Amino acid sequence: MRTLIRRCLPGLSILVVAATGGARAADAARPLYLDPGQPVGARVEDLLGRMTLDEKLALVHADSKFTTAAIPRLGIPRRWMSDGPHGVREDVGPDTFVPEGKTDDFSTYLPVAIALAATWDPAAARAYGDVIGEEARKRGKDIMLGPGVNIMRTPLGGRSFEFMGEDPLLAARLDVSYIRAVQAHDVASCIKHFAANNQETQRGSIDVEMDERTLREIYLPAFEAAVKDAHVWAVMGAYNQLRGEHCCHNADLLNGILKGEWGFPGLVMSDWNGTHDTRQAALNGLDLEMGTNRPYDDYYLARPFREGLEKGVYPMAALDDKVRRNLRVMIATHVLDGRPEGAINTPAHQAAARRVEEEAIVLLKNDGATLPLDPARLTSIAVIGDNATRLQAHGGGSTTLKAFYEVSPLAGILRRVGDQMNVTYSPGYREHGGPELIERAVAAARAADVAIVVGGLNHDGGFDCEGADRRDLKLPYGQDELIRRVAAANPRTIVVLVSGSPVEMGGWLGRVPAVVEAWYGGMEGGNALARVLFGDVNPSGKLPCTFPQRLEDTPTFAGGPEAYPGVNGVEHYTEGLLVGYRWYDAKGIAPLFPFGFGLSYTTFAYSNLRVVAGAARDGPVATVQFELANTGTRAGAEVAEVYVHQASPSLPRPVRELKGFERVFLQPGERRTVSVPLDARAFAFFDPARHGWVAEAGAFTLAVGGSSRDLPLAAGFQLPRTIVVPVGGAD
Ligand code: BGC
Repeated sequence: MRTLIRRCLPGLSILVVAATGGARAADAARPLYLDPGQPVGARVEDLLGRMTLDEKLALVHADSKFTTAAIPRLGIPRRWMSDGPHGVREDVGPDTFVPEGKTDDFSTYLPVAIALAATWDPAAARAYGDVIGEEARKRGKDIMLGPGVNIMRTPLGGRSFEFMGEDPLLAARLDVSYIRAVQAHDVASCIKHFAANNQETQRGSIDVEMDERTLREIYLPAFEAAVKDAHVWAVMGAYNQLRGEHCCHNADLLNGILKGEWGFPGLVMSDWNGTHDTRQAALNGLDLEMGTNRPYDDYYLARPFREGLEKGVYPMAALDDKVRRNLRVMIATHVLDGRPEGAINTPAHQAAARRVEEEAIVLLKNDGATLPLDPARLTSIAVIGDNATRLQAHGGGSTTLKAFYEVSPLAGILRRVGDQMNVTYSPGYREHGGPELIERAVAAARAADVAIVVGGLNHDGGFDCEGADRRDLKLPYGQDELIRRVAAANPRTIVVLVSGSPVEMGGWLGRVPAVVEAWYGGMEGGNALARVLFGDVNPSGKLPCTFPQRLEDTPTFAGGPEAYPGVNGVEHYTEGLLVGYRWYDAKGIAPLFPFGFGLSYTTFAYSNLRVVAGAARDGPVATVQFELANTGTRAGAEVAEVYVHQASPSLPRPVRELKGFERVFLQPGERRTVSVPLDARAFAFFDPARHGWVAEAGAFTLAVGGSSRDLPLAAGFQLPRTIVVPVGGAD
């Protein structure tokens, strides 16, 4: 063994250890940046120092819909990106979104993100990210465009299904697990869309105005956690503007908060065609322009940027910083070193898809223990509804997937009980359906022991779909009437909702004994649903968003058009911090189903709450401890939720905020002590005057229970001294 010193950049000496004479010669010929044994930073600098202007520019803009150019001279391969976030999208292009028609570009279709949020289970998010990462490798993708970490501001948002609900802590916890799992496969995650991307109406131009606390406390924490805790490698800018500047080149957001305060070392890419100005793109923190068209050299970070650099309008350091970030992501994810091959649609991936959906399904109503159904006591079931047979993978916009297969709700029910009883199907409703569809469904329901109406929304434009918001919260295609009529014909009518956002149920909720929210359940969705309906799986999902009684109750409705969807291109978030349950709690409005709500086939009891104070510097500020018991007759999981209330804050705060949760699986009769640690941020609000997080000394109430409106345990806690966490500091 000999130690060699190789000079690779003027003034930079790097140690290389060579084993034998032959290897030594090969090593000496190998540039430092290709040596996986060297630190990432040194490899980046070595490679950067070898690049020409054109080669550098090739890394900061697209050369097709989802790639940047290869640089063969330096051994840099073409870089591939892909949507995201529920699987690896089928291949399009190169210069169009039209699918290429390949036969090997299918993927596992996982339940949509809001379903993942309904699991409240970081382990499920890990399993989810694992599938994405492994399949991305197999499909040759370097950066996966997801997860979507925007907050549901209004249930009308067309992309609500792509995000993780209305609460920053829940979204942050699940996003962090998802991202870590993806990136463990040497695939970069790209969180999107930074920031305040909360509607599709005028999505490319709407200018969002909100106060600083709302930005920091509601809309940024999931991004912040992805950067600080998950070390995400890429961030996609949002289409909209924030405070007068497009988010893809918004100096305050990108240079100020993301890179400055949070120390983000990775790359910022634009949303597709979300770049609008060369100067801002050059100087305000954008590192990669995507979504352009042929000729790709014509766009902002291509020829116009080069001309500006050559004339000295922009400093070369601006380009070098962008290139450095792009190279850092490539080298850190071992793009130059050879990576695992990956695998696609394995039995393990299928099992993960089913497991996530089984945990995601939310039992909203179950009068008289209507569910689970006992197949031994049934001779016939009438399955009704367009969503019972509709395949959902290939819809919704950029989330569209070519699933290897997809088990519809009807197929899942047939597989589970089709050989034990008579299962009929009748559509009941469809887009251009008519009264005769209802009549046929009513007749089928009347003739069966049980009717299962599988309705909800779909991924058509105007529902759960990119490009447009929903007009209202109503079920489309006459479903309210259908459900009322079916319920009148058969008192054992179960409603299964397939949707990615809340719907109104006032017209029929009181007339049916059981309601299930199944979301878009991925390719194993029908199997998971059947296993819940027939009791093989005890439902344990909890709502990641409030289901309001009616649109008029929602926070953005109260603010009028200025609050949503905006007037003259500008929108004011007048509800401020009062997003989701924070609004309903503050205004005393009863939701249809509250945030965090979900029933089980068993029952749980909470008792013996204790709050153990801890040292702020070396651990949690406080740990909440309580006992949770399964008091029913079936095994099942309960998500225990911890909410914090401050008695007399110096700035107004929401009534209560989710600050911790734990999913606990218990056998019948089993009892467990649950501990939920709370750090300083759990007690803090953002104080614009101090530009930091402040947990004020004084009285707090810590409440524990099974939903934001069912908190049987509460204890006081006295924070002995004020703790200030600066914006860049650790939580
Ligand atoms: C969407 C992004 C997506 C991109 C590429 C955009 O329209 O907003 O979420 O990743 O297209 O398909």
